[in-house]
Amino acid sequence: MDTVSSVEDLRARVGAWRRAGKRIGFVPTMGNLHNGHFSLISIARMHADHVVASVFVNPTQFGPREDFASYPRTLEQDQAGLSAHGCDLLFAPPVDAIYPFGPDASVRIEVPGISDVLEGALRPGHFAGVATVVAKLFNLVQPDIAVFGQKDYQQLLVIQRLTRDLRLPIEILPAATLREANGLAMSSRNQYLSSDERERAGIIYSTLCGMRDALHAGQAHAAVEADAHRVLEQAGLVLDYAVLRRKTDLTEPEKNERAGLIALIAAKLGRARLIDNLD
Ligand code: PAF
Repeated sequence: MDTVSSVEDLRARVGAWRRAGKRIGFVPTMGNLHNGHFSLISIARMHADHVVASVFVNPTQFGPREDFASYPRTLEQDQAGLSAHGCDLLFAPPVDAIYPFGPDASVRIEVPGISDVLEGALRPGHFAGVATVVAKLFNLVQPDIAVFGQKDYQQLLVIQRLTRDLRLPIEILPAATLREANGLAMSSRNQYLSSDERERAGIIYSTLCGMRDALHAGQAHAAVEADAHRVLEQAGLVLDYAVLRRKTDLTEPEKNERAGLIALIAAKLGRARLIDNLD
């Protein structure tokens, strides 16, 4: 696997594949890769002739008090993992390759509505940063397919909508969440957890399972959400939300709506902010 950092080198490599009629799969990441990311590479491999990954810690999707500066950067390790999992080309650009006028003066892509609730309401500007960088990366790589993990469910909906709205000829493939033995969703931010916290964080998944089961058993939405709050707070997590929403657009369901819903949780534990979901 080769690594390129300039737009020119990326275009030369991808252009040659495209001229040869090859299908290109793309997995954008912020690095610090784990098995969850590698499963995205494997899915891309199944649907494309060549797989491109990107590692770029995108400044525009971090809030002023978030972990941009301290976000783990582990390029050598990432290169070895990507190579072992069948990635053909890594694009690891510097900030000015993606934001030639600087991040603050960049063209911005907004995806209204879906970006404004839950994560978007708690992290203003986050999804504009994600949509902007993904649109830029799509424009550079021009893939046929791109794979995104369902752990970041709202992000997946934002990207699907962006792709449809800009009429990009890219198929977005969702990938199932990979979990640790205790149910904790794999995430780069799990490394902020102590080993004790990592064990305790399994309660997020068991609470999601409880929410799904209670919903199917006919319990009222408000009671399902209130029980989840109680359980998580008793376990020492600081909750941002534990809610039931419509899967298609994350709007609030009617009282008697049962089908097509998804449970979503965001909570802080120690230094880590964790998100997860289950339908
Ligand atoms: O999910 C991520 O790692 C990032 O939000 C993404 C999609 C690579 C954009 O920076």
